[in-house]
Amino acid sequence: MLKKILIGLAILFVAIQFYRPARNISSGPASNNIGNAYAVPEDVNAILTKACNDCHSNNTVYPWYASIQPVAAWLDHHVDEGKGELNFDEFLTYKPRKAHHKMEEVNEMVKEGEMPLDSYTWIHKDAVLTEAEKLALANWSVAVMDTIAKQYPEVLIPQKR
Ligand code: HEC
Repeated sequence: MLKKILIGLAILFVAIQFYRPARNISSGPASNNIGNAYAVPEDVNAILTKACNDCHSNNTVYPWYASIQPVAAWLDHHVDEGKGELNFDEFLTYKPRKAHHKMEEVNEMVKEGEMPLDSYTWIHKDAVLTEAEKLALANWSVAVMDTIAKQYPEVLIPQKR
């Protein structure tokens, strides 16, 4: 009985390896990247690259085990969900109010230590943000918010519901 179950599981494991969803890798120009309209200082860019962009951009750097199911499906889900909420490569397609709000979220998430996700930092140890890195991101998000608010003052007016 146990042998049959193990064989069944082995077959299942092999079978799911054939499931190959498209990867989050884009070769096109990132013309809507946040950096094309807002200043992204060198140090902030480095933090975004190592700690955020795998899930919040159009390019994920995949580790080797990302090819193995069911890990791949699990990672894909995070990338899809993360990108759906906030994509730095699509940032310039956001309306001013949304862009402003997303930066407010960045500020909160980083200060509260909610981003990057724990499951990410278990493996990507260098993505654990130091206090200085958190501060750099938080200050940057405020600077971007200020720039948006100067251009589009209406983002500061609360919306009627
Ligand atoms: C492993 C993937 C992953 C990484 C790395 C990651 N995020 Fe996320 N992020 C997500 C997912 C998934 C969500 C949506 C679910 C949630 O809010 O928990 C999210 C949501 C967010 C949101 C919320 C947007 C909204 O409007 O609610 C912000 C802001 C955010 N992330 C910022 C960051 C920043 C900044 C970093 C880097 C310091 C980062 N994330 C790193 C996966 C990731």
